[in-house]
Amino acid sequence: MLPDEEYDPRRALRAAQRRRPDPVPASGFTVRDAVAADMPHCRAIYNHYVENSTVTFDEQPLSHQAFRAKFAKAQKNGWPWLVAVSGDGATGGEVLGYAYVSSYRDRSAYRFTLEDAIYLGPAATGKGIGKALLGELIERARAGGFREIVAVIADQGAEASIALHERMGFKEIGRMGRVGFKFDRWLGTVFLQLSLKKK
Ligand SMILES: CC(C)(COP(=O)(O)OP(=O)(O)OC[C@H]1O[C@@H](n2cnc3c(N)ncnc32)[C@H](O)[C@@H]1OP(=O)(O)O)[C@@H](O)C(=O)NCCC(=O)NCCS
Repeated sequence: MLPDEEYDPRRALRAAQRRRPDPVPASGFTVRDAVAADMPHCRAIYNHYVENSTVTFDEQPLSHQAFRAKFAKAQKNGWPWLVAVSGDGATGGEVLGYAYVSSYRDRSAYRFTLEDAIYLGPAATGKGIGKALLGELIERARAGGFREIVAVIADQGAEASIALHERMGFKEIGRMGRVGFKFDRWLGTVFLQLSLKKK
């Protein structure tokens, strides 16, 4: 049994869980639709956060197969999946980060409501790439006829994500405490929601 005192959203992260300083990226970036060949890069970015942070509640790295399956499901359902790549996008470029939406819940009445996910490589954070990716993702979701996007964000270690979502118009609609347990600590979730009014 785990004691209640272990849950404290204000507790500082251990050094190993904190973000390391970022090198400066070489050039600009482009946001484009993801293709299957991007998935190993997206997976590498995601698994970094699985292993080193509390921003995702996964504790074991995802396999190539699991990532391919996520992408295939998005493609099948018409859920946008975007990548930010270095350079002008014309010559490939390095995958700096990605963002996608999936169904908020599987039951059919939720079909107009999506949940988003966004992850940048550590070297690409804090430079406006998240804003560009999420902004485009929102427009794609709107254009696809979806009406609501929900973000479910860890209440510890994900301050940048909360700030980004609020910056893009998401409003906090609630919190759940002590629903996750990772790196020997209890974690909660913050729910934010954006309504996609037709333009
Ligand atoms: C969260 C994440 C996608 C944000 O993208 P980003 O490119 O770093 O953010 P941006 O540079 O576009 O900044 C967006 C806004 O958030 C704010 N912000 C960014 N990082 C912040 C931080 N560490 N603390 C507080 N606010 C922050 C910025 O000030 C900016 O607002 P502004 O335009 O008013 O100045 C990115 O940092 C990331 O991938 N982090 C690690 C993985 C993660 O947490 N994913 C989300 C899981 S829910």
